[in-house]
Amino acid sequence: MSGKIVGTGSCMPEKIVSNDDLAKIVETNDAWIRERTGVARRHISEKETVVSMACAAAQKALEDAHMKAEELDLILMGTSSSGTIFPSASCMVQKEIGAVHAACVDVSAACTGFLAVYQMGQAYIRSGMADKILLIGADTLSHLVDWTDRGTCILFGDGAGAAILVSGGSETACEVMHSDGGRGQALTCDSRHRDGSKELSGDPATYIRMDGKAVFQFALSKVPEVILETLEKAGCTTEDIDYYVLHQANIRIIDGVVRRLRERPEKFPSNIEEYGNTCAASVPILLDELNRAGKLKKGQKLVLSGFGAGLSWGTALLEWQKEN
Ligand code: COA
Repeated sequence: MSGKIVGTGSCMPEKIVSNDDLAKIVETNDAWIRERTGVARRHISEKETVVSMACAAAQKALEDAHMKAEELDLILMGTSSSGTIFPSASCMVQKEIGAVHAACVDVSAACTGFLAVYQMGQAYIRSGMADKILLIGADTLSHLVDWTDRGTCILFGDGAGAAILVSGGSETACEVMHSDGGRGQALTCDSRHRDGSKELSGDPATYIRMDGKAVFQFALSKVPEVILETLEKAGCTTEDIDYYVLHQANIRIIDGVVRRLRERPEKFPSNIEEYGNTCAASVPILLDELNRAGKLKKGQKLVLSGFGAGLSWGTALLEWQKEN
């Protein structure tokens, strides 16, 4: 028995930073950023934290699922920027929302974080170890970005997305995950010298460091490959898929995946223009937008796909079973 998603939610910080705002602090411009990435603006946290946004997203997902926090037996949270090493962010969310019966685990898988917790949630349900799970992807990469590096600071934004996964899903659910630590140096952020405050130490290693071209090429080759691997494992073809909900890293990566799969662009919804790359939050935020817009119909097949630091990449095929 697989799990099915019965509720979604999301939360973004209030403050919006446009490309023109960024052009005041680094040598860049709106046209370059839009053309090379697809990003027009991003939400950047001031008073919001990973945990506060995760709680807001979780509450909305619970409401959407008509469930109470006390019913949850597990919280799995993908985050790489919660600001505490312990207690885990998921334990802090548990306390805030009153999920008193839930076990809590954080998962560090960067932009693959939501795919990782979704797949773990499915494994918990199939094994019988859990029944009602809160899945969260939440990050504030703006706290880890070097705001003098125009190669990275233009890309990222902050946010949180959540989904409720409960047993009773369709047997077509199918997942694949891969990692390649050998290529990990393409995208790094070292936490060792951080002092726990929002201020960075000044050590360049504690900022996000990225070989943009290497990450771009990695995504373009591995994302279509893992999608096709998942479809084959599930006995499906691209014809069966209604929507591909991809990690929102760069619109050119999404366009490249469309071409390599020989698919129709309208099957690839995107909100990167509004939020930039929100790391583990991007897939559940986009899923929540589709759900709330009434675009997801019972019986439709969706592919979720995440990729990023590690390097890591993973995909899930699911049949949408929620009535809207
Ligand atoms: N504004 C204006 N010019 C910029 C710029 C910016 N923000 N950033 C770089 N440039 C310049 C470069 O200096 C370079 O100038 P030059 O030709 O005079 O040397 C030129 O633009 C091209 O730079 P390049 O780094 O080759 O651009 P690119 O096409 O590779 O795009 C990224 C850079 C970062 C947008 C792109 O590599 C990318 O998106 N990679 C994937 C990153 C990603 O998704 N990471 C997260 C994965 S989860």
